Amino acid sequence: MKPIKYDAAGVLIPETGLSQDDLQLLAPQLEAARREFLDVDLALYASGDAVPDAKQPLDAGFFEMPEKLLSEYEADSEGSELGRILKTAKRLQESVDRVVLLGIGGSYMGACALFEGCCHSYHNELSREQRNGIPRIYFEGNNVDNDATQELLDLLGDDDDWGIVVISKSGGTLETAVGFRTFLAALSKAMGGDKRKIAERVVPVCGTAGKLFDLQAALGCPESYEVPDGVGGRFSILSAVGLLPAAILGIDVVKLLQGAAAMNERFRTSTVEEDPTLQFVGVGQALEARRGINIRVLSVWSKSLESVGLWYDQLLAESIGKDFIGATPFTALNTRDLHSRAQQHQEGTRDKLMTNVIVETLAREPISVGTSEYNQDGLNELSDKTMPEIMHAALKGTNQSYNGAGRPTADIVLPAVDEESLGQLFQMMMIATVIEGRVMGVNPFGQPGVEGYKTNMNAILRS
Ligand code: PA5
Repeated sequence: MKPIKYDAAGVLIPETGLSQDDLQLLAPQLEAARREFLDVDLALYASGDAVPDAKQPLDAGFFEMPEKLLSEYEADSEGSELGRILKTAKRLQESVDRVVLLGIGGSYMGACALFEGCCHSYHNELSREQRNGIPRIYFEGNNVDNDATQELLDLLGDDDDWGIVVISKSGGTLETAVGFRTFLAALSKAMGGDKRKIAERVVPVCGTAGKLFDLQAALGCPESYEVPDGVGGRFSILSAVGLLPAAILGIDVVKLLQGAAAMNERFRTSTVEEDPTLQFVGVGQALEARRGINIRVLSVWSKSLESVGLWYDQLLAESIGKDFIGATPFTALNTRDLHSRAQQHQEGTRDKLMTNVIVETLAREPISVGTSEYNQDGLNELSDKTMPEIMHAALKGTNQSYNGAGRPTADIVLPAVDEESLGQLFQMMMIATVIEGRVMGVNPFGQPGVEGYKTNMNAILRS
């Protein structure tokens, strides 16, 4: 397995006011946060003892999930959670051509990132044969957008070749609940009201209690999955929440988990200077403390990574945006956004760290510019250049330009956009978010602020 790399070279140029010494100064804090998480949080989580108020909530269960799922699968390839997920995935692949995935926030963003990262860019447009029998996927229940919902219902029409994966840990999220009621009614109509068939076409992923749990029990769904206790929504991508949709999409979930487990091992054993997770946190924290840089731009250099960026936006924002502090994340897709955001990044307020996510090896053959008898565009002199070379030049040029203006950049190098690399990246970002919270003295788990709009919305609707 090729490990992903984190390189803070751009950040450490003198113009940014940061040096290796600044990072060295932070090393004891990073090490203390690592020890707190590994020795205190995980031990407390594993003991099942009451969590003290100061640590509430403690959703540390995500960390050891990759190793746990893999070892259970090795011991029992059919009866384990992963074995069951693969079986359900196969059943759905064989019985439906379209899956409507209902969920919001942590209950869908990971699946979306995996879909865009690992599947063909035009997956839903391919024929069933070209998709190797893998169903198309549509994401709903992440909004209450009337027209978008109607349009998906139009698309499904009266066909009966589809099913629903509905994901909600609490089971009470209104957007997802309304989506489920709507699509369940459509499915019921398509299946001629046959209750057994309807139940087979619905796979719920939910907590062990709650409205969705009760509803799926009433429907008699034969297969259902749990969002484990102690795993928060935005930390649940490597549980059934992300793995079931991924397996349905033919994504290699074992490799995904192996990548995450490898990142855990690096986090447990590397020095602060060598651990990409701690370096990633250190650079962000040092720039915030020394330079007041509190906007984190994740610049992804592949279209397939935009949803990975959006997943990370949620992870960072909901985890550390508390107590009146917390950096603001956002995702830029390059080179596209060089034509919409780069002006501000180059010359606007000095409050941004640009972290590039760069892909080392592409999946497909490089496209050359080529020669043309119509050289009005002047491209013949670049005829031997390929798209990856142009992308590389744009990246290098952008970094040079930002660094020249004293604007910090850092690079995450992904060996490829594949299961192993993404498993490493997701796990690195989840651990980094926890460590960042611990360094800042903010509990990274829970999202009490989200309750505000929900309470008001429910009061308005029920008044
Ligand atoms: O990170 C989180 O916990 C949230 O983003 C939740 O995933 C989101 O609010 C959806 O919650 P639920 O799965 O309970 O419907």
